[in-house]
Amino acid sequence: LAATDYQAEDATIVQGTVAANHTGYTGTGFVDYTNVKGSYVEFTVSGASAGTASLTLRYANGTSTDRPMDISVNGTVVSPAVSFPATTDWNTWATKTVTIPLTAGTDKIRATATTAGGGPNLDRVGVGAAADTQAPTR
Ligand code: GCU
Repeated sequence: LAATDYQAEDATIVQGTVAANHTGYTGTGFVDYTNVKGSYVEFTVSGASAGTASLTLRYANGTSTDRPMDISVNGTVVSPAVSFPATTDWNTWATKTVTIPLTAGTDKIRATATTAGGGPNLDRVGVGAAADTQAPTR
């Protein structure tokens, strides 16, 4: 079963901006988290079946410092301080996969920066399978 992809630039963004100033992203851009603790991107996901699913976050971190984020579902942190380590440069993207619980209804999946650096640049998330198969836009 293919993952359903949700572009970060289409999600709810609190303390972050949509950007396209690096290569390798999918969709129309990516989210550049503001460099503060608490900045977040929230995805509204529906149509999943109840139970556990994989959540694959495609990100870039051009610094040499980790950019950890809490992953929460419907207000509850389900994966605390997930590591988003360096990816060589801002044009190099990697994926991180965690397992999350979903309901059969609508779920709010949030990725919140836990350190003052803010989150990594976030391209998209995939819900339901761990894959990185979408061709970059540029
Ligand atoms: C640079 C980079 C941004 C990135 C930012 C950061 O400014 O160009 O894409 O988001 O660093 O440190 O978060």
